Amino acid sequence: MSSLRPGLSVALVGKDARTEALAAACERSPLEPRTYRPSTTDAVAVLAELRKDPPDLVLVGPEAPLCAGLADRLEDELGVPCFGPRQRHARIEGSKAWARELLAKHGIGGNPEHRVFRDPTGLTGYLHALGEFVIKPDGLTGGKGVKVSGEHLDESEGAEYARALIESDGVVVIEEKLDGEEFSLQTITDGRTTRHCPLVQDHKRAFEGDLGPNTGGMGSYTVADHSLPFVNREDMAQAQAINDAVVNALAAELGSPYHGVLYGGFMATGEGVKLIEYNARFGDPEATNVLSILASDLVAVSWAATSETLEREDVSFDQRATVCKYVVPEGYPTAPASGGLIDATDLKPLVGEGRVRLYWAAVDADPGGWRARMTGSRALAVVGVGDSLEQAEQAAEEAAQRVGGAVRHRSDIGTAALLHKRVEHMEKLRS
Ligand code: AMP
Ligand code: GLY
Repeated sequence: MSSLRPGLSVALVGKDARTEALAAACERSPLEPRTYRPSTTDAVAVLAELRKDPPDLVLVGPEAPLCAGLADRLEDELGVPCFGPRQRHARIEGSKAWARELLAKHGIGGNPEHRVFRDPTGLTGYLHALGEFVIKPDGLTGGKGVKVSGEHLDESEGAEYARALIESDGVVVIEEKLDGEEFSLQTITDGRTTRHCPLVQDHKRAFEGDLGPNTGGMGSYTVADHSLPFVNREDMAQAQAINDAVVNALAAELGSPYHGVLYGGFMATGEGVKLIEYNARFGDPEATNVLSILASDLVAVSWAATSETLEREDVSFDQRATVCKYVVPEGYPTAPASGGLIDATDLKPLVGEGRVRLYWAAVDADPGGWRARMTGSRALAVVGVGDSLEQAEQAAEEAAQRVGGAVRHRSDIGTAALLHKRVEHMEKLRS
């Protein structure tokens, strides 16, 4: 039986900057854990690897192993606590229809106008009535299946896309197209107690000025007061209340509590906060922001989440700002070059001064080094930390510019100019 004791062994499942940020936070723990990364993220293969010498605790970065039932098997077969929900709880991310229906059934606010279609009856009429709409496949698509009217499709193309999804998946979600500013609220929970992280804004578009195709996220920021300049007090309270209510609804609906991180993707609109989607894990890159300033012991916090004792655990964050910029291969995301070298050696002084943290992602080297070969996706997250957003942005920008190789990054993330645009947009919507 494992216990929370000095020198405990902690396995980290994931091969991304988010999981590296989890690992770095664990490695700061006064418990001096022995951290270990399985060689794969496939649930079955991870289980086989961990079975030989089970760790005391497992933290999972990405959603796929959770949706495949990794937490269930770790806990039921090996008796190992897992920071990350069981498969039935991870459905909040794995099925967008189920997530919308859970909120509706439990009377939780935040759903946009939407309908779940399991056959095409009434489909075209609904699209026409909405005018501007969003069509969402039900399951995991890596953020790439959502199509927005005007941007990706007109009404007849929308109907065609929705019909194809009903045919392939048996279900499609259609909702009103919202106008506003997106933000993420990540909530650590043991299924009863919730601890909210600072709000984060991600940047999904590939290029400066929010242009170009959607990506996994090009970077993100937090500000020192843990809110965001375009989010008002009511918005923040509303988002927190929605996450709290969903944690309770999951326990009531499924008969057991959710352990891990519940990530709410929200949009601040002229009519309050609306829910875009739920994820069953930290965001990537959002994890790199909040974990870089986590003041509490992540090992103790995640242990408390799995043992349902979070009530006794303080979860606090430094009152500092963070800016994450992802360094990606040239051509990302449409035609990324693969196999190129990326060199972060010139960042050593910035990292040494504590102004910047580095988290490797899609590279083929061991984390901890300064050079690697890129494998085609987001390669390196550089996170600037500072007393103000300006300081954090300058540190991140300087770091990103110093990275060598055929790479690029978005220089506008966390800048005053971009922030000003967001604030103006919200002021216009609220007036
Ligand atoms: P999702 O996979 O649900 O996060 O959707 C991907 C992206 O599509 C989001 O980050 C939003 O930018 C956009 N999106 C999703 N739902 C809506 C909506 N109802 N209105 C406007 N944009 C949306
Ligand atoms: N940054 C968006 C996500 O992690 O889903």
